[in-house]
Amino acid sequence: MSEQKDIAAIIVAAGIGSRAGGDIPKQYRSIGGKPMLRHSYEIFASHSAIDRIIVVIGGGQEEQARLALEGLPPPIIVTGGDTRRDSVHQGLKYLSQSAPGQVLIHDAARPFLTFSVIDNLLSALTTHSGAVPVLPVVDSLARGHFAGDHEVMAGTVPREDLWRVQTPQAFHFAPIYDAHQNWDVSQEATDDARMAMAAGHDVALVPGEEALSKYTFAQDFGDESMDDNIMPPIR
Ligand code: CTP
Ligand code: MG
Repeated sequence: MSEQKDIAAIIVAAGIGSRAGGDIPKQYRSIGGKPMLRHSYEIFASHSAIDRIIVVIGGGQEEQARLALEGLPPPIIVTGGDTRRDSVHQGLKYLSQSAPGQVLIHDAARPFLTFSVIDNLLSALTTHSGAVPVLPVVDSLARGHFAGDHEVMAGTVPREDLWRVQTPQAFHFAPIYDAHQNWDVSQEATDDARMAMAAGHDVALVPGEEALSKYTFAQDFGDESMDDNIMPPIR
């Protein structure tokens, strides 16, 4: 009898990479000799627990995605939306036609995924609705406000119980799909765990990895062209 596998992965890759700049969207740029998207796709494709991978891409990017993943088991391609939340939702809707038990939702912009992060997340799902990788905040945190021509310090924020949240974020399928289906779309959400939590589901925090950090700004790619952007826009 074949082993029952019931875990899907969604890689969201439908962004335009406006903060990173460059000629092509960042998920198709070369990192360490291969397109960024290919890195995490290869890890999911070679993990024995994962049997379906959805890649959510921007409209008209089918050829770029196909080239980036050439030679690998063919992906299931779904067209994304205007926001990350919407792109994840499109992936979940596609999966709902034949719902998996569990789903891992991952940013293409975090290429350096490892089996150990995936395994820790899946093991946390035995006792929780969701699980996310996190890292401690090591720098002091300041609250700022804009005063004339620059930010000034307006207060500090205790950091002891604060964590930096990464992806993949792992969930039992039903709670995260419900959270997306019932989300008030007038509110933006950059993070699926927040949506699951707001819908009353418990989300475990498991150890993340520094290498899983998101490529966001031009300097994350080692670009030199940062002269006019010494301080990245605060969002
Ligand atoms: N993403 C997506 N659909 C969107 C927006 C983002 O699938 N409409 C994906 C990105 O491709 C990325 C991940 O969500 O893999 C994290 O988003 P972010 O780092 O913000 O990427 P971009 O939105 O592309 O970048 P920017 O916000 O700088 O434009
Ligand atoms: Mg974005």
